Amino acid sequence: MRHFLEIDDLSSVELARVLDLSSTADPARVLAGKGMALIFEKPSARTRNSMEMAVVQLGGHPVYIQADEVGLDTRESVEDVTNAMAGFHAAIGARVFAHDTVARMAAVDRVPVVNLLCDEGHPMQALADLLTMRREFGALEGRSVAYVGDANNVARSLAIGAALCGMQFRIASPPGYTFNERDLDRIRSHGGPEIFDRPEDAVAGADAVYADTWTSMGQEAEAEQRRRDFEGFQVDQRMMGFASAGAIFLHCLPAHRGEEVVDEVLDGPRSRIWVQAANRMHAARGLLSWLMSEAQS
Ligand code: CP
Ligand code: NVA
Repeated sequence: MRHFLEIDDLSSVELARVLDLSSTADPARVLAGKGMALIFEKPSARTRNSMEMAVVQLGGHPVYIQADEVGLDTRESVEDVTNAMAGFHAAIGARVFAHDTVARMAAVDRVPVVNLLCDEGHPMQALADLLTMRREFGALEGRSVAYVGDANNVARSLAIGAALCGMQFRIASPPGYTFNERDLDRIRSHGGPEIFDRPEDAVAGADAVYADTWTSMGQEAEAEQRRRDFEGFQVDQRMMGFASAGAIFLHCLPAHRGEEVVDEVLDGPRSRIWVQAANRMHAARGLLSWLMSEAQS
């Protein structure tokens, strides 16, 4: 059974196919009469709504479940919840703190499991990011994206996804917030990343500049320290000035205006943040179309 826990659960050919399916005007109703359980341990605006609407567009019925309701590993084990859900639903999506939780769901192997964000990755976001850049630039091969900030879940999935698409992934992070060796090995196995100390050097000549929060969900107690540590890593007009003339700005959102990025960039002419957010739904539809046809084959 195929699962989608990280973006390299797809080969580069499959990834291109998912991006194609994301743009299909009249998708097959592969979820007709079926459900998808969407389990959340953390808040969400884009992920919940994009997944729910993608399921509806494929003819299915999404069921949103707060993790507390089912009590993952408190009321019932992750495996028992997964087995129960597999009796009702054609697929399960989960946003969790620890990657191990989605890995345990996938290990049950009854229905496809989709990672809706964990500490290690955010592959559904990476799909939408690649779709956004493909719609902007046409072919992705040879293009570059410069990520400024924390080498976090979003950065990791984007780094792997960009490499799978033949893109150059460039990153600058403060000391202590860089990719670990295990992550680097995985990203390097697909090509890239290019690592810089100074954000200006990462951004120089890039086709897209990307930012995410300095403080991810679950790290709130570190926010003050992080604000100090990330000084100099804000994307402002000056920073965008180092990018290529036609460069676009991307952010997975939610943005912390005045921290990792300023209003003038978020709301400026180079920003594609709202089309990027809307592309979450199209990318989700593409991924689920592919996953369901794989499950039936
Ligand atoms: N980008 C993203 O995943 O947004 P949400 O946390 O609102 O779902
Ligand atoms: N890195 C952020 C992404 C939010 C969509 C987090 O994990 O909170």
